[in-house]
Amino acid sequence: MIFTVAIDGPAAAGKGTISRAVAAQFGFRHLDTGLLYRAVSAKGGDPVDAARGLRPADLDRDDLRSLAAGQAASRVAAIPAVREALAGFQRRFAREEGGAVLDGRDIGTVICPEAEVKLYITASAEVRAHRRWLEVGGDEAQVLAEVRERDARDMGRDTSPLRAAADAVVIDTSEMPVDEAVRRASDIVERALEARR
Ligand code: CDP
Repeated sequence: MIFTVAIDGPAAAGKGTISRAVAAQFGFRHLDTGLLYRAVSAKGGDPVDAARGLRPADLDRDDLRSLAAGQAASRVAAIPAVREALAGFQRRFAREEGGAVLDGRDIGTVICPEAEVKLYITASAEVRAHRRWLEVGGDEAQVLAEVRERDARDMGRDTSPLRAAADAVVIDTSEMPVDEAVRRASDIVERALEARR
């Protein structure tokens, strides 16, 4: 069975948690596509060459999760040739036999517009910054400023800007505990699977 769950949304909205939970529940493969962009910027040098030469081992670095790596990733992610170099791998991952969950910014709009389920996970900038701050510490006002800066860059770029696909189900987690968001996402996937049986 070929079945793709596309999960898009801004930083720290809960995409990662929801994606991992849905993948585990249904036995689907999971790809955190943000890690690809983080790894490209962490490699240094020319970002287009880095994207074309990206290898699985590049995703194993332990410095990819920092706030700074996220900011740097959103800069290389605005380069069309970088996105193009990473698109084929993501498309193949999405449409291989067995079911796949991909989380990112442009999965439902550009990488896999034919996805069987499209979710757009969002929350207010304040709530997202607070969650990120609980993970990384430091100055909360600074974390909020960085979240807003990254939102503006991701939503404002010309190539594959962050937006909900017209047929995505929007889940706003501003006032929703994570297990409730996971339950809603799982229900939507379950219904889509049933409709195919
Ligand atoms: O985990 P978090 O939401 O903070 O970030 P991420 O998903 O790891 O993505 C880091 C950056 O990579 C984002 O700010 C985007 O600029 C970029 N990205 C993208 O352009 N397209 C994707 N499919 C995934 C990430």
